[in-house]
Amino acid sequence: MPLNIQALPPLSIYVHIPWCIHKCPYCDFNSHEFKGQNIKNNEMAYTQSLIKQIDSNQFDSSRPIQSIFFGGGTPSLFNPQSFKKIIYAIKQKFTLSEYCEITIEANPGTVDKEYFYGYREIGINRISLGIQSFNDKHLKKLERIHNQKEAYDAATLAIKLFDNVNIDLMFALPNQTLSELNEDIEEAINLHSSHLSYYHLTLEPNTYFYNHPPPLPNQDESAEFSDLIKSKLMEAKFKHYETSAYAKQENECNHNLNYWKFGDYLGIGAGAHSKITSNFNITRFSTYKNPKQYIQEVNNNSYIQEEHLINNNDIPFEFMMNALRLNDGFIIDLFEQRTGLSLNSINSEIKLCLEKGLLELNNGRIKPTMLGQNFLNDLLQIFLRNDKP
Ligand SMILES: C[S@@+](CC[C@H](N)C(=O)[O-])C[C@H]1O[C@@H](n2cnc3c(N)ncnc32)[C@H](O)[C@@H]1O
Ligand code: SF4
Repeated sequence: MPLNIQALPPLSIYVHIPWCIHKCPYCDFNSHEFKGQNIKNNEMAYTQSLIKQIDSNQFDSSRPIQSIFFGGGTPSLFNPQSFKKIIYAIKQKFTLSEYCEITIEANPGTVDKEYFYGYREIGINRISLGIQSFNDKHLKKLERIHNQKEAYDAATLAIKLFDNVNIDLMFALPNQTLSELNEDIEEAINLHSSHLSYYHLTLEPNTYFYNHPPPLPNQDESAEFSDLIKSKLMEAKFKHYETSAYAKQENECNHNLNYWKFGDYLGIGAGAHSKITSNFNITRFSTYKNPKQYIQEVNNNSYIQEEHLINNNDIPFEFMMNALRLNDGFIIDLFEQRTGLSLNSINSEIKLCLEKGLLELNNGRIKPTMLGQNFLNDLLQIFLRNDKP
């Protein structure tokens, strides 16, 4: 049965830059070490491929683009001129919304002052810095290519040049103590960035840490760490609006909000994922992951490696997996607009969550309770359906 989608969701663009100077031992992102290859040649060839993929877009180009996110990998390895060409190609094909948030991820170990000025000049209006910790001992263990001073200098420069700056940090690090975490949080607060993302370090399969696990804090310690982060950041006037995200007033990340509100996105570049709603269907597709293969396949105009329609039965779970990360949850209308389904179709699941105290319903808004936030995976399991139609 076709979905009853009345209005198309907002559309964002994600552009993936798949190279780094060094592969961090905890990282499972599609990122590859340069290993003596010529950065400039790769940058030129890859930028051309990104532009070809943008030019070849077959989807409705009339929808305004809400946000563009250059993620990685380490996008800050690339020259502002490359991003200028990519943004120009996007503008040729699409219309940008009146305020289009344009973010670039930067690694403090690759900060070039001229590049930062250049990024601002070509219209990038948000920087996301991968700092992870301000503690040299932890930075070393995480094999980051920057030290505490470089982290501090990069953040100070970014905040001087951009109104909107995110700092990525991780907690529950190998052998981390509560007082070390406390110092990290205070360093972050003292920088006065507009946004902080605080991730619990996870051991992802296919990473060095997964195969050689370092000594990590136990569950009780992690919960204590998490509570400390929440209370200190909220005291410093950050709003805890998503599982790992904190923002000063009105500085939430529009790009990520669009994912969490089950909006549409077009992924450009190696291994980039897309979700597109059209003709009353929701399609997901992804491109070839390996950068060399991606470049070749773009030349053959066959860069999509995998594509599938989301099964109607899976849509409620996929929606909840995103929307329930938001501490304010979602309004019922949003569920119906984005999924094309009526809330009645998940009445029994919602009822069970309310009975278990995992969700609350107030004024047409459904949101996770504190219990639901703390046991998000258990909450989501309730929406998982094993039966296919
Ligand atoms: C897409 S990554 C890339 C950012 C950038 N390349 C950097 O590392 O500086 C975005 C963020 O995810 C977080 N992250 C990456 N791997 C993680 C893991 N295994 N556990 C928790 N957070 C992780 C880090 O905070 C990182 O900055
Ligand atoms: S710099 Fe970022 S993307 Fe690159 S390997 Fe490290 S965590 Fe992964």
